[in-house]
Parts: sequence; C-alpha cells; structure tokens
Amino acid sequence: MITSSVPIRIEKVKHSRLSSVNVNEVPFGKVFTDHMFIADYKNGEWCDFRIIPYQRVEISYAMSALHYGQAIFEGLKAYRQDNGDVVVFRARDNWKRLNKSAVRMAMPELPEEVFMQGLMELLKLDKEWTPTSENGSLYIRPFMIATEEAIGVKISDEYQFVIIAAPAGAYYKEPIKVLIQNTFYRSVKGGIGYVKAAGNYGRSLYPAKLAQDKGYRQILWTDAETGRYIEEAGTMNVMFVKNDVIITPELSETLLAGITRDSIIKLAKEKNIPVEERKVPIEEILKGIEEGSVTEAFGVGTAATVAHITAIGYEGRDYVLPPVEKRRYSTSLEKELRDIRKGRIPDNFQWLMKVEDAV
Ligand SMILES: Cc1ncc(COP(=O)(O)O)c(C=O)c1O
Repeated sequence: MITSSVPIRIEKVKHSRLSSVNVNEVPFGKVFTDHMFIADYKNGEWCDFRIIPYQRVEISYAMSALHYGQAIFEGLKAYRQDNGDVVVFRARDNWKRLNKSAVRMAMPELPEEVFMQGLMELLKLDKEWTPTSENGSLYIRPFMIATEEAIGVKISDEYQFVIIAAPAGAYYKEPIKVLIQNTFYRSVKGGIGYVKAAGNYGRSLYPAKLAQDKGYRQILWTDAETGRYIEEAGTMNVMFVKNDVIITPELSETLLAGITRDSIIKLAKEKNIPVEERKVPIEEILKGIEEGSVTEAFGVGTAATVAHITAIGYEGRDYVLPPVEKRRYSTSLEKELRDIRKGRIPDNFQWLMKVEDAV
C-alpha cells in the first residue's frame, strides 16, 4: 500500500502528436507517446520528479552508463479493454524486478511510490495512445542509467530513472523457429543473467544474428556449465508440453524470472494443468518431439505474450512440432491471459490496475 505522495511536476505538451499517428499500425518501439517521466538521483536521494514532453535530451559522453554498463530496464504493457478502460498489467512486479536489477548492478533502489505514481501519472496523460486492436498494447519502458559525468570504473554517484512508452502491435506476426545455442552463452553462475541489465542484451546480438542468418528467429540459450540444459529464449522464457504436462526451466541465477512465465504458471495451476519447473535437458525435448510426446513449445514474455515455436534447430537438424491449431495448452492459456487483460473474464489474481482519467 502506497501512503506517501510523490511531488511530480507536470509539463504537458502544447499539441499532442496523437492525431498524426495510427496507433494500431505503428512498428514496435519506434513511435513514442507525448510525455515521459524522469526522476534524478543526486546526493544519495531520488529527487526532481517530473513529467515533460517526450524529447531528446542532452547527455555527456563521459556518462558512466555508456562506458561501464550501469544500465537496467523493464518492460510492461497497458491494455485497452473492451469497455474502453486502459489497464496496466502487474506493474508492481516490474518495480520489484527493477530493484533486484539495481542491487546487482550497484545502483540505487527506487521507492515503490516513485515507480508507481510516475507510471500512473504518465499513463493518465498518455493513455489514449493505447491501441484498440485485438493484439495491440502500450509498451512501457522504465529504465535506470548511471549519469555521472566521470570516466573511471567505479559506482556512479548520479542516476536517472525514466519511463517512456510506445504503442505496439503483435511482436511476432507468425509462429517462430528457434535455434538451440551451445557455443555462445548468455549467462553464467554468479553473473547477471537473472537481472534485466542492458549488457545481457548487447552480448546476445551477435549469436542472434548468426541464428537469423540461418533462418531462425530466436535463440534457445543453454546453461554455460554443461550446454545440456535449456534456459530461455532471447527475450522470453520457454515452455514445453510433454505428455500433457507443462515443463519449464526452473528459476536460477542464470535466467530471468519472467512475469509472463509466472502468470502462465498460475493460470495453468488454477486449471489443474500440471506444471513442472525443473532442469530441461535438450535431449529430452528433441527426443520427445521425435517420439510425439512433446506436442507444444512456446516462448512467454511481455513483448510477445505467447510465441508459438514451430521448429527447434539443433546441430544442423530441425525438430518440427505439431501445427499450432492442434495445441491445446498454449493456445488456451494465451487466450485466457488475453481475456483477463481485455476485461472479458474476471481478474482473479488482481493483476490489473486501471488508469484513471487525467483531470
Ligand atoms: C531475457 C528475458 N527472459 C525472459 C523475459 C520475459 O519476462 P517478462 O515476462 O517479465 O517480460 C524477458 C523479457 O523481459 C527477457 O528479456
């Protein structure tokens, strides 16, 4: 429960750009809403909370985020319900994960009320940017960067926390093919794989490009210790259905605890669908696909929600899964999650928070 109120200075745009944008058609992550929220961290405290028109800002090339990677981020979405309301999904969980990332990266934690009030005030102003299309959403990107103007590897003294937002359509237009990767690794024990640090993504781009050059959309990362166990996909956790049981890699310090993963697990358990969170050997999945016991494979994450996997590539061979139309579990759980967000069925887990009208 938030009790204190954060003093947020608000400077509204003179003219909204919304009338010149078709929010149901924009490419992912390229068009931003009218405003952004900013908080500064100086002299050991968060201060100067403000919402200002979205704009480019001046930065110093000596800023430590650019050199030493003290940069973390989050990703969450607001949805337009059938009755026109705009709701945000599990935002508090993103705040908690942001702070987990902050601790690991030696950055200051952000108070809950700064995150939540900054977000909700921003959304109040910009909620009309939320697409009305069935698969549309407003993608929200909170992030924290080290802003001290100083070169030298050390913990920065200054930071900014910022929230920007962009209308988005379906992340993947079609089911995807993925490649199991066991030459490059995303994460090691004792590393930063369990947090959302910018460096985790920079390091993944080259292996992802190699996979894309071979016709795969995403990588399935494996554990760096043995290369035998599946961990997660580029920006999604991963799940399989084997003999009517949902199997997903257990959480560990080498993979990100996805909020969509948690939501799907909770919905499955509510329906008495068995879920196993455990180590998932590559061999078990590929053999299961060949023998017909593994019938579904899918990625789960905020950007894509559920991304059905058509085939898994490994050592020069593609292991092809049954067609998406035949998949009972991933398709019904995907629909259930969408129906909750759209307000078509009850939000039993209280995942949604309504964005109020701006006054
Ligand atoms: C590496 C990684 N794994 C998993 C996920 C899925 O997490 P979430 O469902 O919270 O979006 C993401 C996306 O944030 C990610 O970047």
